[in-house]
Amino acid sequence: MNPAVLQLPDLYRPIEADLARVVAIMDQELQSELPFVSQLCERVRGYRGKMLRPALLLLSGQSVGRVTSEHHTLAAVVELVHLATLVHDDVLDQAEERRRQATISSTNGNEAAVMLGDYLISHAFHLCSSLNSQSASRLVGHTTNVVCEGELMQIHSRGHFRLAEADYIEIIRRKTAALTATCCRLGAMHAGADESLAGRLEVFGESAGIAFQIVDDILDVVGEQKKMGKTLGRDLELGKMTLPVIHYLREASANLQEAMLKKLSSPEAEDRTRVAELLTEFGSVAYASSVAQEYVSRAMSMLEGLDDSPSRTSLQSMAEFILRREN
Ligand code: IPE
Ligand code: IPE
Ligand code: MG
Ligand code: MG
Repeated sequence: MNPAVLQLPDLYRPIEADLARVVAIMDQELQSELPFVSQLCERVRGYRGKMLRPALLLLSGQSVGRVTSEHHTLAAVVELVHLATLVHDDVLDQAEERRRQATISSTNGNEAAVMLGDYLISHAFHLCSSLNSQSASRLVGHTTNVVCEGELMQIHSRGHFRLAEADYIEIIRRKTAALTATCCRLGAMHAGADESLAGRLEVFGESAGIAFQIVDDILDVVGEQKKMGKTLGRDLELGKMTLPVIHYLREASANLQEAMLKKLSSPEAEDRTRVAELLTEFGSVAYASSVAQEYVSRAMSMLEGLDDSPSRTSLQSMAEFILRREN
């Protein structure tokens, strides 16, 4: 089959039954006898995303050994962490749409969304502690520390138009790639991998995560909201520097830079459209894609030592999927 037409369900085939188990564990964890809380849990349950993080954890485990019930629980834990970050992120980004539905913050307000995000992260740790694995709990805790640091770094650098590319990469390594790296490490460790193998899979997850966020940031500028199913355009509106803009403001002539800075600070819709056009015409979008491609290549190289298996092939295809995704 042509790998270019493979979709996520195809890539998830080796772990299909495991993913169903993960969803069941999440549903069981997210229950409350309080009607209002239960209603919010229902909302969260009602929308599933791409389930990339549980898939990374399960496929990493399966590619080096056997997937056990511990993996199912850990995969539910990482998806709960991810969900919490999304609910909070939509408050930070004042987003209206997420996973093709209205965001919690837009329907229930920021206060409920902040508390629901806390509730989700609290459930993630509650669930994780059921495993009796101190190393897993410590790693998940460390990861959420790093994710929050990444988001805080991003808040701190808002409106800083001269943000260096290395600082941008550091922000996304923390806010997004720390979690994908941990997914792969946890999957491998709990399938009996030694430190060197777990380390390679961790680097796979980190590199894939960095590429994933670069592509997400490109799609925030040039993607289609209908396909993405979430509010787009907020990065630039809120002064969050992303790779295409960093490239443009580094490489374009002084005049072009000045014109771009004016447009970036303008609230007019036409200026936003023009920014997207300029970033594309100048090659800044292509540059950002090439950097994402480099991270995907790095991720792929980490799989070289692994035995051939359907899950290894799926990990490889997931890395490729990152570059061609439209949602
Ligand atoms: C969105 O992640 C948040 C980012 C890190 C860019 P996903 O695109 O994996 O979100 P879902 O889980 O599929 O909704
Ligand atoms: C947020 O990045 C990443 C998280 C860790 C939640 P974005 O702000 O780009 O995520 P989206 O585009 O809203 O999904
Ligand atoms: Mg956002
Ligand atoms: Mg985004």
